[in-house]
Amino acid sequence: MQPKYAIIGGTGVYEPGAVEDARDVEVHTPYGDALATIGLYGGQAVAFMARHGKHHATPPHKVNYRANIYALKELGVEQVLATAAVGSLQPGLKPGDLVLVDDVIDMSKSRVGTFFEHDSVVHVDMSDPYCNRLRRNLKHTANRLDYSIHAGGVYVSTEGPRFETKAEIRMFQALGGSVVGMTSMPEVALAKEAELCYATVCMVTNYAAGLTTNALTHQEVVDAMRHNVEKIRALFYEFIQS
Ligand code: HPA
Repeated sequence: MQPKYAIIGGTGVYEPGAVEDARDVEVHTPYGDALATIGLYGGQAVAFMARHGKHHATPPHKVNYRANIYALKELGVEQVLATAAVGSLQPGLKPGDLVLVDDVIDMSKSRVGTFFEHDSVVHVDMSDPYCNRLRRNLKHTANRLDYSIHAGGVYVSTEGPRFETKAEIRMFQALGGSVVGMTSMPEVALAKEAELCYATVCMVTNYAAGLTTNALTHQEVVDAMRHNVEKIRALFYEFIQS
């Protein structure tokens, strides 16, 4: 069973959902081991990976992004559908909204962001970090399901695990950011290097620091995702089946 599609579940998305014949596989890579669940959905083989682990034990700066992406490539995956919980930088992006981001600003600090470290000099093109074909198809699927989805946006990817300061959020807004999260980099860059077609559906869980008077908590993010996780699953599975 060779999966053409993979789902990388972010915060709040720890299980593959309604897949048949699911089995866990451990893939050994030069970067360490990666865990995936492979199963069938509507007759299509799909690989599922929980980015932070099934019990959310791995914080964003400790995720083994290289092992995960390498493993998906090794499994034969061609298209990767990622989820991400994000904070909103724009009043028009409200908690509960879905955003199909089309660009990214890398504000991470201490992550290895490449497979090409030693033997070769490779500069991958990042003009379109997220796969346009996959984004277009996901947008069509969302329309078919009558889901409203923002069809573009700039993901500002921070180091974490702390949330941002108000001044940082003002800077990200000034830079043209739409949403802020902690995981798209280096995941999207590694997917590019691995020549995988990769897209992220962001779920807005909160307004970013300083845009509301409330202090932000991780629990608030997890709770907001729990309310919306079925929507993202339905979107992905409708896409995969069609
Ligand atoms: N900042 C960073 N990451 C996040 C946020 C946020 O406000 N919300 C969900 N993930």
